[in-house]
Amino acid sequence: MDIQYLGHSSFLIRTKGKSLLLDPFITGNPKAQSVDLSGIRPDYILLSHGHGDHVSDAVRIGQTSQSHVVGVFEIVAWFESQGLQGTGMNTGGKAEFPFGTVKLVNAVHSSQLPDGSYGANPVGFVIWNDEACLYFAGDTALTMDMQLIPMICPPLDVAILPLGDHFTMGVDDAVIAAKWLKAQRVIGCHFDTFPPIQIDHDKAKRTFQSHNVELILPLINQTISL
Ligand code: NI
Ligand code: MN
Repeated sequence: MDIQYLGHSSFLIRTKGKSLLLDPFITGNPKAQSVDLSGIRPDYILLSHGHGDHVSDAVRIGQTSQSHVVGVFEIVAWFESQGLQGTGMNTGGKAEFPFGTVKLVNAVHSSQLPDGSYGANPVGFVIWNDEACLYFAGDTALTMDMQLIPMICPPLDVAILPLGDHFTMGVDDAVIAAKWLKAQRVIGCHFDTFPPIQIDHDKAKRTFQSHNVELILPLINQTISL
């Protein structure tokens, strides 16, 4: 399983011959201008919630690539009204796809689509197959519900957690999340894109190191292989 960082909370996952785009926010992200959009033709687009910094490129990429949208029922219904196809789910449910299993887990945040449509509840995703298991938290506060994930999902190879504070949990809460998730390795996201979510990289790395959790602060276009 290869995980490529496209800036903010956007990742491109390649596994089992399929590509999964998570929370695409690229053209509107000044930090992600080096990302080659023409090379992104995902089979699936997974959306954690409706905010613009998570869905803004989904319609265009999805239409160009005939991608299959996965997310909460109301979000997927909105994308179906834009001509895309998808699988609408809801928190706590899992579904099987050709690349593996996706389970929707709780996220503590808000959600609204860019045109003001109802975005239902935000979620995180646990995605697994026989290659790896990863948790993509989406936008969320630290929540005790994270303790459920190691009980109900395969052991995590990596957790992708927001670190920027202000709109989501910050570094100190993310370390607690990693412990609860029993994750030895964390990939940070949702940091540095805007002034309120800028983080001190050295301090973040020291904080995780002191808790014996590996922290990767990915560079744009960097690929992490599990
Ligand atoms: Ni958000
Ligand atoms: Mn966000």
